[in-house]
Amino acid sequence: MTGASPATAPRAGRTGIRLVRVPNGRVGAVAVHEVAETVADHPRAVLGVATGSTPLELYAALARRRTHGLRTDAMTLVALDEYVGLGGDDPRDYATYVRRTIATPLGIPDDRVHVPSGTTDADAAAFEHGIAGMGGVDLQILGIGRNGHIGFNEPGADAASRTRIVSLDEVTRRANAEHFDGDLDAVPTHAITQGVGTILDARRILLLAAGRGKAAALRAALTGPVSAEVPASYLQRHPAVVVIADDDACEELE
Ligand code: GLP
Repeated sequence: MTGASPATAPRAGRTGIRLVRVPNGRVGAVAVHEVAETVADHPRAVLGVATGSTPLELYAALARRRTHGLRTDAMTLVALDEYVGLGGDDPRDYATYVRRTIATPLGIPDDRVHVPSGTTDADAAAFEHGIAGMGGVDLQILGIGRNGHIGFNEPGADAASRTRIVSLDEVTRRANAEHFDGDLDAVPTHAITQGVGTILDARRILLLAAGRGKAAALRAALTGPVSAEVPASYLQRHPAVVVIADDDACEELE
């Protein structure tokens, strides 16, 4: 990776995970190298995108690269998850987030932006079918929940799970209440999410973690046993994962 800050030694022989520890505030600035390299090599790459606060600086940095000549508009975007029950024009809707924050600044037209939606098994199956039809995800950007979730795969999620409707953990709803004016009752109780198995099908994975609030989850994910209790620990089974985490998020790592 170019331009990366000091990296800890890869946990060679144990997992396919490479951890890159960066100063606080630098996650997006370092992650953009990884994504820009993929896009420069493969302008038609399928980029899996996470929502949430952590990747915002990455997306902004990618848009700045575009203004300096990086071709981003031929990519296809695939989102991880979506709330169930918000109106399509609700600003907290993840489809709105993906369009406003990623697709529009990168010049990607609507017909190449795929966000899961709906409430039925058929909706979930159609989304899976769509990913298969585009040849799979080349690079999946992930965040991590305080409880170790990836996408909306909450503790208890099966390693082989596919896109489906899930109920949201109390920890997740409390964390996300900040986007609903602090009103927990306004946070949806259900979501549609790619499954763990769907996520692990991506060719490469880039997990971003920032802040003290993620330290325990990151420690469990990287150094704990692979367990349904910490869905991010399933990443230890993937052959090509890069984790970019700031000092605060690395606080509980040795
Ligand atoms: C959210 C989303 C995830 C996101 C994660 C972390 O609830 N479902 O896709 O990666 O939790 O969010 P943040 O980066 O805001 O901490």
